[in-house]
Amino acid sequence: MPFPLRRARGAMRALRRLGRLARRLRGWVDVCRRRDTHSSAEEQLETKSKTKLQKKICQVVLSHFEKQYSKELGEVWNSISQVLSTPQCWQYAVLLNKFNFSSEVENDLRLKGYRLIFPETSSCFRQSLKCYISSSPGRFPAQKHRAGKLKEYYLLNAASVLAVLALEVENGEKVLDMCAAPGGKSIATLQYAWPGLLHCNEYDHLRSRWLKQTLESFIPESLMSLITVSQLDGRQIGNLQPEGFDKVLVDAPCSNDRSWLFCSDTQQATLRLAQRKALSAIQIQLLRSAIKALRPGGSLVYSTCTLSKVENSDVVTHILDSCSNVCPVDMSALASSASQEFTLASGVQQHELLVLPERGKAWGPMYVAKLKKM
Ligand SMILES: C[S@@+](CC[C@H](N)C(=O)[O-])C[C@H]1O[C@@H](n2cnc3c(N)ncnc32)[C@H](O)[C@@H]1O
Repeated sequence: MPFPLRRARGAMRALRRLGRLARRLRGWVDVCRRRDTHSSAEEQLETKSKTKLQKKICQVVLSHFEKQYSKELGEVWNSISQVLSTPQCWQYAVLLNKFNFSSEVENDLRLKGYRLIFPETSSCFRQSLKCYISSSPGRFPAQKHRAGKLKEYYLLNAASVLAVLALEVENGEKVLDMCAAPGGKSIATLQYAWPGLLHCNEYDHLRSRWLKQTLESFIPESLMSLITVSQLDGRQIGNLQPEGFDKVLVDAPCSNDRSWLFCSDTQQATLRLAQRKALSAIQIQLLRSAIKALRPGGSLVYSTCTLSKVENSDVVTHILDSCSNVCPVDMSALASSASQEFTLASGVQQHELLVLPERGKAWGPMYVAKLKKM
């Protein structure tokens, strides 16, 4: 072979080797980057809960809540306030992942005194939705992300499961989770049933990334085709996809009483309290959009994690009074099963539940209401 040709071939081989090396390096950097985003979202959450145990109550928020909730809830507010102000008595439920079921984890939970939230005898029992709770405070260790391996369980406030049970998703139905991040209720919905489509929407960019990570960590690749994710203002979805869904969950942005009580920045807390009044207008707009997105005969669940009447029953009453195409759905059967494990507020209507945190049952605050489109 002439010398110049041999040199050219040698150079080509070297170039190909370099290309392969670069591709391998790029893949490795991607894996590291993915690991980084996973761990950063999780680590932030972990650090947040750890520091909450050490953090102080935000007095501005506490005195605002004292005024409002002692008026709205009466004496019961004193014991609720005690629970909310003492993270040491908070409890966490463990939702097992049916897509990576671990009997080892289940046995460990039982050994540690956990039990199924709804036993087989309960009308709320669902074989596929295994949510374990314990009467003692504390939490089962959180699972770190492991590349290529699904997580075995998700830690959550047990009251969140009530919103999913209230939605009563049937296999094959089209479901919209309008405000989905970080994804707890989407994951619980997929444990409960096999929807034909689950559309998870989250407006906030960072939280939307967190939502995608949660879905990736719990749902096998083969089922990802059933799930779509968008980053829209939920208020637009009704116009974009009218009558597109059988069920809609509106787990609305709200005052988040538990978290606001531990706000470390007084200025931020004061601002939040001032802007609190605007929340009910957004919640009403989200609900109007959800109604548009529902097919006639479909139903929606509205939930919040606040005790505030203005953001809960007042919002739902406003919708019922102003939308002639929706009616309330009786949830008294769910309420009666749930009353075994949850402390429910008395004096609410049949289409609503309000979970009040209590020592030994430190679940909630969680408000759940159900409406049907006619
Ligand atoms: C209570 S959280 C949802 C929790 C979630 N459903 C879960 O179970 O993990 C409410 C979410 O609504 C999002 N949000 C706020 N405004 C929104 C809007 N206009 N449209 C859609 N999502 C919104 C917030 O960023 C927040 O992530």
